[in-house]
Amino acid sequence: MRFGHFDDERREYVIDRPDTPLPWINYLGTEAYFGIISNTAGGYSFYRDARLRRLTRYRYNNAPMDLGGRYLYLRDEETFWSPTWQPTQTELDDYECRHGLSYTRIASRYRGIRAETLYFVPLGETLEVWRLKVTNERDTAVTLSAFSSIEFCLWDAQDDATNYQRNFSTGQVEVVDGVIYHKTEYRERRDHFAYFACGEPLAGFDTAREAFLGPYRSWDRPLVVERGESTGSIAHGWQPHGSHHVKLTLQPGETREIGFVLGYWENPRDAKFDPPGSQTINKAGAQAKIAEWLDQATVDAGFAALAARWEELLGGLRVQTPDTDTDRMVNIWNAYQNMVTFNMSRSTSLYESGIGRGMGFRDSNQDLLGFVHMIPERARERILDIAATQLPTGGAYHQYQPLTKRGNNDIGSGFNDDPLWLILGVSAYVKETGDLSILDEPVPFDNAPGSEQSLYEHLKLSLRYTLERLGPHGLPLIGRADWNDCLNLNCFSDTPGEPFQTTENATGGVAESVFIAGQFVLAAKELAGLALQKGDDPTGYQNAAEKMAGTIAEHGWDGAWFRRAYDFHGNVIGSASNDEGQIFIEPQGMCVMGGVGLEDGTAARALTSVRERLATPHGIVLQQPAFSSYRIELGEISSYPPGYKENAGIFCHTNPWLMIAEAMVGNGDGAFDYYKRINPSAREELGDLHRCEPYVYAQMIAGRDAPTHGEAKNSWLTGTAAWNYAAVTQWILGIRPELSGLRIAPVIPAAWSGFSAVRRFRGATYEITVHKEPGAAATRCRLVADGVPVEGGVLPVAPAGTTVQVEAHLS
Ligand code: BGC
Ligand code: NOJ
Repeated sequence: MRFGHFDDERREYVIDRPDTPLPWINYLGTEAYFGIISNTAGGYSFYRDARLRRLTRYRYNNAPMDLGGRYLYLRDEETFWSPTWQPTQTELDDYECRHGLSYTRIASRYRGIRAETLYFVPLGETLEVWRLKVTNERDTAVTLSAFSSIEFCLWDAQDDATNYQRNFSTGQVEVVDGVIYHKTEYRERRDHFAYFACGEPLAGFDTAREAFLGPYRSWDRPLVVERGESTGSIAHGWQPHGSHHVKLTLQPGETREIGFVLGYWENPRDAKFDPPGSQTINKAGAQAKIAEWLDQATVDAGFAALAARWEELLGGLRVQTPDTDTDRMVNIWNAYQNMVTFNMSRSTSLYESGIGRGMGFRDSNQDLLGFVHMIPERARERILDIAATQLPTGGAYHQYQPLTKRGNNDIGSGFNDDPLWLILGVSAYVKETGDLSILDEPVPFDNAPGSEQSLYEHLKLSLRYTLERLGPHGLPLIGRADWNDCLNLNCFSDTPGEPFQTTENATGGVAESVFIAGQFVLAAKELAGLALQKGDDPTGYQNAAEKMAGTIAEHGWDGAWFRRAYDFHGNVIGSASNDEGQIFIEPQGMCVMGGVGLEDGTAARALTSVRERLATPHGIVLQQPAFSSYRIELGEISSYPPGYKENAGIFCHTNPWLMIAEAMVGNGDGAFDYYKRINPSAREELGDLHRCEPYVYAQMIAGRDAPTHGEAKNSWLTGTAAWNYAAVTQWILGIRPELSGLRIAPVIPAAWSGFSAVRRFRGATYEITVHKEPGAAATRCRLVADGVPVEGGVLPVAPAGTTVQVEAHLS
């Protein structure tokens, strides 16, 4: 069952009923001011850091779901309703939500009144625009009231949700010329505030939530809206709120537009301190912004600029294949999701509360893989930020806060895969841009001034970090966990029932990871490539990779697949000799990506095992058999019921590794088959089972052991986005940046007769046409660029600004 459809031309997903199985969200903002917005206008906004600078309040895990948003109410002589369905849930005569690239438009018709609201964040601004367009489709004139409603968050979302003894007394607002200023925290910090403005003359306003809602009421029937009259309330503590009231009379057929602007203002550093004792805020800058963005011409130009920006960003790669799901994901939605994951890491979604997690070291490095070709300069900046949180040992803080860019001490370090991702992220950046100068950038350790060393030294240290931490079998120590956060193998307890540890104490154990071993082989080879480009001797890295591959063959191969790990007690995990958890997906993907077993056939054997034991129609599960009970020696993984998350869920992030691996062994049909199983567009028909948005990847789809097999969760913020993009564009379509140029090596389904693509690469444009005999599984590629044959499969870097015509013939 579907709940909408794709409008590929406009790059929108059109939702045609408000009661989607779950709120289907979109993101506003691409730079510093961000928000999430659902198909019924739920969501919240923040500036840079969803925890520390949250503008509006949102109630996670509430009933009804998705409470708190950018709400509007319309009221005629008899009744009132929400033109975005929530929060009144009035049965509208027509409803349509169009989620587009960084904007959302929600339209409806009720009682002959058509309303359409556009929400977006203009480029370069720290504010959001709401543009409400109301049309009277009745044949008589109507007098309407429009009310806006937001609830301000007292900035730190964690405190806001917990520290009521303080919160209920700190809230402060100011209303000047109809603009509602939220100035809690301004007394002590004197630098930031929020504003909420409306472009029409006001019939009234409210800034105290209880006055707006009325005692013991909720947003579905606010007293002020019911009465049709604002109270002019000023919040003193309690819950600062923002509501404007506008009255308008519309003749039959008449349309009126009302603009709203919600924004964040931060005084320039030198103007930070207002005169001591000043009770008012320094509003001059904000007032100018408000005037600017209430102006229709500015809004139109701002919206057009946003569209132009996306046109340009998506122009990095456009493909035309025989498969619509592939085209719309690659050309639109997957690229878009890559930008969102790059910006948000794992902080803000319907499933990530914006409080718990900052920027992940491992996650952010992987997110680069899908983003680097869009805005390489921002990728560069991100790499340097991440590297600056690396510890002098070569280890890494697992996360850092986006506002301070400091490592997060609450979570600390000790995930032993983390440092190796930095090598993979940097290598992807250099392959895309050719910018070797990044390797010479001085970068501190743990942000300590004076500790700077070149990024290249950081990378070398990352590799050394693994080599200095090898366990009894010569495999890398896992520490607290590797990519699989929940495989906590240094957890043990003499006391039955004692919870597992995921603290840094868990780093002391001897548990080893075959996954990290495979990742090491890959990273060492990548570093060897970078070394060679730099004119350095790569032999040491090549030898280290080879040696580790040998160790994997000796202690990591189980006979038909790669083992997963050895636990604290030296017991093997992910082996036929285990009763549960016999085969895991991660080492199969990572070892093959590292090139392990490609020559002796073990890679191909491992891939067969995956297909036989782990593949389901909804994607490849993480391991089998699922753990039926909790096991202290394995940790969090076994805390999940079978089929969910790391306990044999389809953890989508890992699936593209298998697509890549299949492509590496030349199996185009196999790679593409896996791709289609989790491609959200291809799952659109399954809407009532899948339940999450059909336009973005979800982190997890319930595995075959779960009662809800096929149900997705945790959409949007997942490494699945970047990896799927890499798998399909670089390995299946085979357009792959390498240090020396752009490799063209498609491994496509046998049935295809080819495809075409336009790829921007280091300033030049490559117009690529791939030809193949339909029905043939062909991977040998003969390349011709501008009429001249190219040997070796790699297009040399063309001068910036030029266009190269590429013909690729597969046989
Ligand atoms: C989840 C993991 C996640 C980890 C991070 C776990 O509960 O299952 O997927 O990586 O939390 O905190
Ligand atoms: C989600 C986390 O963000 C990611 O870092 C981790 O690799 C996966 N879960 C698997 O545990």
